[in-house]
Amino acid sequence: MEKNIITEETRIPRHIAIIMDGNGRWAKKRLLPRSVGHKNGMERMIGLMEHAFDLGVSYITVYALSTENLKRPKEELDGLFGLIRNHFKEYMKRVCERGVRLRVVGNLPLLPEDIQRILHESEAETAHFEGKGINVALAYGARDEIVNAVNKAIALGEKVTEESFARLLYTADSPDPDLIIRTGKEVRLSNFLLYQAAYSELYFSEKMFPEFSDKDLDKAIVEFSRRTRRFGKTDEQLQE
Ligand code: FPP
Repeated sequence: MEKNIITEETRIPRHIAIIMDGNGRWAKKRLLPRSVGHKNGMERMIGLMEHAFDLGVSYITVYALSTENLKRPKEELDGLFGLIRNHFKEYMKRVCERGVRLRVVGNLPLLPEDIQRILHESEAETAHFEGKGINVALAYGARDEIVNAVNKAIALGEKVTEESFARLLYTADSPDPDLIIRTGKEVRLSNFLLYQAAYSELYFSEKMFPEFSDKDLDKAIVEFSRRTRRFGKTDEQLQE
């Protein structure tokens, strides 16, 4: 049997964010339509969330659709929206049953109205939960989020601080991510959580998202646990 690499000494990140890249390439390699890659990706996303909460993670943010992705061919977008229409509520209910609050973060008016309704209904079903959270980023772009927050601050007529500005972002209710994982070989953030990622540890995996297993998540967490997060301080200051 494979050894469990997470031990009592492993520091579990409070908040993990994931860029779920490589679904299309995973499908292409198997001569399957991209939509099958996305379906498998969605199922893997749910499995990883369940595993992460079991390990003691409190917040998970997943990048499901960027503002740039909205320019993809209609057929692909219809496939992604079809996944939401047919499975989102049921899948999210399964994960959120363990006391997790769901938030959908992004510029939601850019999505079809029936999709917006499904997302709002799913959020409402979990609104009474506190302490653990899932953010699903849809029609999300970090620059859009920051510009939106600046405009909110202007409308309020208030000067902002780093903390008060964070409360104007779509992710207002979550702490900053401790660990950001990107699958699919690319090594960039692609307009994801640019404000919140200031001190996040970054982890890149060559695996395509549908094949990123629970064990792969364990490996990322162990690597995170080994790193020293100094937040700009010296080792000596940290020891004090
Ligand atoms: C980017 O990789 C990923 C996406 C555009 C979508 C990711 C979405 C899911 C995994 C599940 C869907 C979840 C919801 C809530 C709808 P890509 O698929 O474009 O891969 P590629 O870079 O290999 O083409």
